[in-house]
Amino acid sequence: MNTTICGLQWGDEGKGKIVDYLTESADIVARGQGGNNAGHTVIANGTKYVLHLVPSGILWENKTCVIGNGVVMDPVGLCQEIQTLEEQGISVSPQKLLISDRAHVVLPYHRELDAAREAALGKNKIGTTKRGIGPTYADKANRIGLRLADFRDEEEARELIDIRLAEANELLERHGLPTFTTDEVLDAVRPAITRLLPHVTNVIPTLHAAWKEGQTILFEGAQGSLLDIDFGTYPFVTSSNTTAGGASTGSGLPPNAIERVIGVCKAYTTRVGSGPMPTENEDISAYFHARGMEFGATTGRARRCGWLDTVLLRLAVMVNGVTDLAVTILDGLDERDVLKICVAYDIGGERHEFPPSSRKDWEKATPIYEEMPGWLEDTTKARSWSELPQNAQNYLNRLTELVGAPVSFVGNGPEREQTIIVEK
Ligand code: GDP
Ligand code: IMO
Ligand code: MG
Repeated sequence: MNTTICGLQWGDEGKGKIVDYLTESADIVARGQGGNNAGHTVIANGTKYVLHLVPSGILWENKTCVIGNGVVMDPVGLCQEIQTLEEQGISVSPQKLLISDRAHVVLPYHRELDAAREAALGKNKIGTTKRGIGPTYADKANRIGLRLADFRDEEEARELIDIRLAEANELLERHGLPTFTTDEVLDAVRPAITRLLPHVTNVIPTLHAAWKEGQTILFEGAQGSLLDIDFGTYPFVTSSNTTAGGASTGSGLPPNAIERVIGVCKAYTTRVGSGPMPTENEDISAYFHARGMEFGATTGRARRCGWLDTVLLRLAVMVNGVTDLAVTILDGLDERDVLKICVAYDIGGERHEFPPSSRKDWEKATPIYEEMPGWLEDTTKARSWSELPQNAQNYLNRLTELVGAPVSFVGNGPEREQTIIVEK
């Protein structure tokens, strides 16, 4: 069954671990959006892998991984990532990793422009990963981007970079930042692109042939629904559609090819970067950080932590068409005696069941909580639903009631094996 795996919060929900777990029964694992702003951690057989651009399925042998057209691809970053994986004993051959020739390329000036935009925003900065993601997607929408296909002929790439730099350099100069020549840009990416070209192909026929043959395709979403450029906490979002539709537009496999949408959420809430987060809580943040948990896989930044927020999950379940929930890091709450769940927001004295759209309303949103008793037991050894403490089962059942989707997977530790399949 072709499946999309989406983050339902602000990213880092544990998507990588769930994708890795489900890859065993898949044939192809594909990414359709985002770039190396993503950081997906998988712990397999005691080794920790952090994937940024390469789909997490790469850790399994005999699976095909695809980077789709909707991804923005940093060639230098991808080569470094492939090298790290190969040093860890993972083969990343051109047969195993296919990259769409329509994918847009992150170039050195995109990273500079990202940093310049952030500096100009000052205290209103987005807190981006500074990987050049926003400027690359902006160039795509402005129709001045470069795709991998353009690099098959260096003269063509040169012409396009010339055109782009005319404007980019003006902006960089205005910010007092170093400008680029076309040669500098080409020299910076040529070795990486040459290294990657054997992987570059038109992936659409490959995906369709696999679909028609009845193979199983798994889409690995990056970021989370509240970082979606349309449905998230705009402008504090990323620059792609992180919700389920992004898998189709970002790969060329149509929406009717995707039968299942697994929404991944933590048993609480985290966010990295700026922007509203109604259930943010200093005590919860300190609790996780003291345990060495909740530091970003890409930038190492400490994540902001807070209580479970079902208002945002309610929206995420709707816009993704979530058929199954995967609730991760349930074990993270093992030592809390009282658990709060945000069931609605109070905005200017009015109760709201769904997240607001305007920036002002987001700023005013205060959580309305319901409390449940914790379980104060180690859940990390449980291997089935019935082995979970009753209060943990109650917490998850309440989540289902509040957001309208069944819990099908529970994560109770970072290892592959610490994944409970819920068969009710
Ligand atoms: P992603 O970006 O959604 O793939 O998530 P990240 O990898 O950035 O962050 C999730 C973190 O939680 C990683 O450090 C994982 O190893 C860890 N993790 C995932 N699932 C679980 C779980 O069920 N329990 C615990 N304790 N850690 C988990
Ligand atoms: P994964 O796939 C968490 C956040 C950044 C910033 C905003 C915009 O690991 O869940 P960008 O660099 O995309 O322009 O930054 O989005 N962000 C993420 N937060 N997990 C991610 O990816 C993220 N990718 C981007 O912190 O707030
Ligand atoms: Mg992450």
